[in-house]
Amino acid sequence: MRNHIGNVRYRTENNKHFLADVEKTAPPHQAAKACQTCTVSSSRVLRIGLLGFGTVGSGVYRMLADNRESIEKKVGFAVEVVKIGVRDGSKPRELPSDLFTTDLGSIVDDPTIDVIIEVIGGTDPAGALVERAIQNQKNVVTANKELMAKEGSRLVHMAKARRLDLHYEAAVGGGIPLVQPLKHQLAGNAVLKMMGILNGTTNYILTEMQDKGADFGDVLASAQALGYAEADPTNDVDGFDTMYKISILASIAFGKQVPLESIHREGIRAVTRTDMHYSDLLGYRIKLLGIVDAVAPDRIRARVHPTLLPKAHPLANVHGVYNALWLNGDFVGDLMFSGRGAGSDPTASAVIGDLIDVGRNLAAGGPGSALPYDIGAKTESIDTLQTRNYLRLIVQDRPRVLGTIALEFGEHGVSLAEMEMKTLPEGRGEMVFLTHPATESDFRAALTAVENMPNVERVANSFRVES
Ligand code: NAP
Ligand code: HSE
Repeated sequence: MRNHIGNVRYRTENNKHFLADVEKTAPPHQAAKACQTCTVSSSRVLRIGLLGFGTVGSGVYRMLADNRESIEKKVGFAVEVVKIGVRDGSKPRELPSDLFTTDLGSIVDDPTIDVIIEVIGGTDPAGALVERAIQNQKNVVTANKELMAKEGSRLVHMAKARRLDLHYEAAVGGGIPLVQPLKHQLAGNAVLKMMGILNGTTNYILTEMQDKGADFGDVLASAQALGYAEADPTNDVDGFDTMYKISILASIAFGKQVPLESIHREGIRAVTRTDMHYSDLLGYRIKLLGIVDAVAPDRIRARVHPTLLPKAHPLANVHGVYNALWLNGDFVGDLMFSGRGAGSDPTASAVIGDLIDVGRNLAAGGPGSALPYDIGAKTESIDTLQTRNYLRLIVQDRPRVLGTIALEFGEHGVSLAEMEMKTLPEGRGEMVFLTHPATESDFRAALTAVENMPNVERVANSFRVES
């Protein structure tokens, strides 16, 4: 019988878990009795320990149940979730209670489990559990960007040394395949540049601000009320989430783990509807981007900040909660991936793809694609970045003000390219400039000097511009 309860669908037979007929004490990959409900005729069973049953974990379970036949055909043998680890044992779960435990250590120590799917999040206790699972000779699939960005290289080396799989496609871009293409299909290229919209919450907020002419605070509040943004939005709006994700992508593309401390990070709190308005007038959209530039064959610069992009750029047309990665490789040229970067179903899609890989590799008798990255990527500070800039100033509306500001920029080697100007009440004015490319350090020095000019009330905002 097939039930559909709330968000979680599963099958029951006399109140038993639908794969409960598989002998629990069977050695890994070998069921003592063939699974009655499995769709492939094999005595082998891929036994899964699922750590976490929230947005992603419940999606993974549902996808396994819904697409069981095709998944098992692709893996080559039966697939069974034997235990699910959660924090709160008293939460109603809509699945048989004996499937759940709050003792997650017992799952990673269970010798009959072949693969651990970690969808808890954060580094504690997820990091220690993943490590223990690998020590216990288990393959791991994780969606945990923070863990992979901080500990990826070490964990991958651990897994590789034990000839195990450690997959993390869902950690970046939700349902969009990014990790595997970078590891495999694009591996022959020198990646020259990557730019990604890697956080759905911030892209949703920026899109709403653009479309509705609304302020950041108002859109954030309504996104929280609708459940699109977390109660504590720090990870998303301050750019941490994007930083973790671009660090993982850069580490794969450039072969060495990129330290988070080397990534310049700014979030979107400073973006206003006024900046959206002027950007629009000048032909741009504002997006929070994770950007990696190859500055030399062995050196990269990674950064996260709100960025003006020309309206014609493919990334400028990625709206709402959608994510995208644009990259330029020396042989492949320009490429863009886009899709749903978060949510239960798209993220489950990436996790299950990894799980199928694990199953196939087990069937073939060896690990698949351990990530080829080591520690110690050489990185370049943002100070040497050459880029165009957007700048908005509030000034006293008097003779010579515009001229002296332009002169001050000139003194610092910064050339102005375009401008918009507006008269404000009480004898003030608003000036918006786009500069020609300038080094970051020159532009910052010019900004400080301009900010200290007597007729300049304040630098209202500045953002980098990409093309
Ligand atoms: P979530 O909805 O908050 O679910 C977390 C699950 O982990 C819950 O079942 C929770 O147990 C369990 N858990 C949390 N802390 C625990 C602890 N200390 N001990 C035992 N269990 C614990 O999180 P999520 O959105 O599914 O995200 C999971 C992972 O996927 C994260 O790494 C996240 O970054 C990543 N990811 C999420 C998305 C997305 O769209 N949500 C997309 C891509 C990647 P209870 O059920 O008892 O609370
Ligand atoms: N908080 C993330 C986002 C979820 O908004 O994109 C997936 O990583």
